[in-house]
Amino acid sequence: MQPAESDYLRAVDLLCAGELVALPTETVYGLGADAANDQAVGKIFAAKGRPADHPLIVHVADTQAVDQWAQDIPDIARNLMRAFWPGPLTLILKKQAWVPSTVTGGQDTVGLRVPGHPVALALLQGFAQAKTPAGIAAPSANRFGRISPTTAAHVAEELGDRVPLILDGGPCAVGIESTIVDCSRDVPAVLRPGHISPEQLEGVLGFRPAIETAQGAPRVSGSLEAHYAPITPMRLVGAAQLLEFLNAQRHRGGHCAVIAHSQLPQAGMPHRWRMLPADPVGYAHALYAALRDMDHAGADMIVVESLPTSPAWVAVADRLRRAAVGAGQS
Ligand code: TXA
Ligand code: MG
Repeated sequence: MQPAESDYLRAVDLLCAGELVALPTETVYGLGADAANDQAVGKIFAAKGRPADHPLIVHVADTQAVDQWAQDIPDIARNLMRAFWPGPLTLILKKQAWVPSTVTGGQDTVGLRVPGHPVALALLQGFAQAKTPAGIAAPSANRFGRISPTTAAHVAEELGDRVPLILDGGPCAVGIESTIVDCSRDVPAVLRPGHISPEQLEGVLGFRPAIETAQGAPRVSGSLEAHYAPITPMRLVGAAQLLEFLNAQRHRGGHCAVIAHSQLPQAGMPHRWRMLPADPVGYAHALYAALRDMDHAGADMIVVESLPTSPAWVAVADRLRRAAVGAGQS
């Protein structure tokens, strides 16, 4: 899937005019605006219904652009950029004084990433020809607290006429949001787990960073307890209890939509059943589309087979846990 040249031109024009553009990345679709334009960034918060103190990630075209936005960049951060960019890694760095506080949530740090998607990169390069410094602030292109979009159709469903242009880059390869590493302090830590694992980070850093999904203040919006949530109530149930749980629901007349990865459906079960890949990368790729689909199934409850507890599953397990907390709350 490749937008036409005219789509890119229109997207750059819209960004320069302070308007919103939805763009594909390898993780999820983003709702983008000129990160240097306060009013444009304000439109992101309005369209999403997102609280204004939540910082946004600034997407840039290449590693060279980082110095326009950040300062005192430690060597470890440069090493991570070299190893993983373009790619699903966001680095939190000390911001340059001029960077608007609307983008940083009033903090003295800024989140930066070079996305690994050809459409996002082409847009960023086009924007960089029109403007300096060129950064696109983009949170996931969903209503606040809801399931992140992994196709252009999901974005249209979430935001519809609130965004004048959606660039279609096909389904997102990774499917969950970027790994966030805070490099603004003495010892880097993972603020949000993602496709790039602590083991991979260790290969560059020389030590395994801690995962700190902070409670309390929303430094990282995904670290709020309720997030990525369907409207239908949702439960995580262990594989060993799954059939018994579903039978009990059926006897009570409840309709369940099931997302499993190891437990196969049993004959005679009226529940809607979806098998996802039993590996964490395949699971992440399919998860949000499956949740969205099951949310539309008209079920009383989405039942998800709980995930393995091994480190490889930590990022998807994090998303599912938060989705379950936020589900059914609207
Ligand atoms: O994969 C992704 O990261 C996607 C795509 C579109 O790039 N974006 C995304 O954005 O997930 P959003 O806004 O849904 O999540 C961005 C996260 C938030 O949790 C935010 O709090 C955190 O990045 N963040 C941004 N700047 C930060 C900062 N200065 N300090 C701490 N956290 C920051
Ligand atoms: Mg989000």
